Amino acid sequence: MKVWLDCDPGHDDALAILLALHTPGIELVGLSTVHGNAHAHLTLANAGRLLHAFAAPAHLKPHGGAPKPLLRTGRVDLEIHGLDGLGGVEGLPPADSSLTRPPDPLHAVEGLRAVLASAQPDEISVVTTGPMTNFALFASMYPELVPKVKQLVFMGGGVGVGNRSAVAEYNILCDPEAAQIVLELPIPKVMIPLNVTHTAIFTTAHMERLNPTLTPLRHTLSTLLFFFAHAYRDVFGFLEGPPLHDALTIAYLVKPELFTGKRQHVDIELHGERTAGETVVDVWDYLKIDASWGRTGRNCFVTETLDVEGFFNLFFAC
Ligand code: BDR
Ligand code: CA
Repeated sequence: MKVWLDCDPGHDDALAILLALHTPGIELVGLSTVHGNAHAHLTLANAGRLLHAFAAPAHLKPHGGAPKPLLRTGRVDLEIHGLDGLGGVEGLPPADSSLTRPPDPLHAVEGLRAVLASAQPDEISVVTTGPMTNFALFASMYPELVPKVKQLVFMGGGVGVGNRSAVAEYNILCDPEAAQIVLELPIPKVMIPLNVTHTAIFTTAHMERLNPTLTPLRHTLSTLLFFFAHAYRDVFGFLEGPPLHDALTIAYLVKPELFTGKRQHVDIELHGERTAGETVVDVWDYLKIDASWGRTGRNCFVTETLDVEGFFNLFFAC
């Protein structure tokens, strides 16, 4: 399956990149970055550092994307991801090193346009693991190419739960207008919300299974997960370990049977004083609307549960 990954690395984004590069059945055809966990120049540099460390094919270069949300003031999440977006991670080349994969000169939107323009319909799946600014811009600039997208799988939102406000999840909170534009697109969409990602906890037993002493890559991953674990313990009180949010998107692509879920209508709250960025999920089918994927329909497959053991088997196989 051919995949374009749009991300804001970011610790768990790094794991999504790793899985996208090394999971059998996935061909990563492009990678773009966006503002979010850190400023856009840092998420772009981090993607270049990770592509080197994860031995990505030489032709893969990160496409830099939107430096800010469509309408709102940008945010960064220093508490969770550190000063540069990959706090505490050892074994990556420095951002200014010649080893770091240089950015592709094409903007994220233009890179995705080029890939889709030469693809067959339903050939490319798009994954977003950060704010959806790039994909919303792409859809607004090249609407004729949107129907060629096989599906969009995104980590974001929560059903009745938030993490960076009482009701808003961080990726959606960063750019609610972009998320609403994307949810109205007439293509299949799969939401991996907090309710599901909070079950994919990387525990100390998983850390032992990772065995950092075996290889430099395992050491790098252990430092990444160690930092992430401390951030989640300190900020959210997660004592068992951190949730691997973004990595679940790639697991969905290759093994959707690990998930259960339902087609539902999802909108984003854009105006609430206390609730901006909330994913408003019509769990009772209150709206009684049709089954189209666009604005008037049950526009999203909202995942509800994860086979956690199956997910970690896939993770460790990678
Ligand atoms: C999401 O926000 C970021 O902190 C993570 O990278 C993930 O994409 C979780 O809310
Ligand atoms: Ca992310």
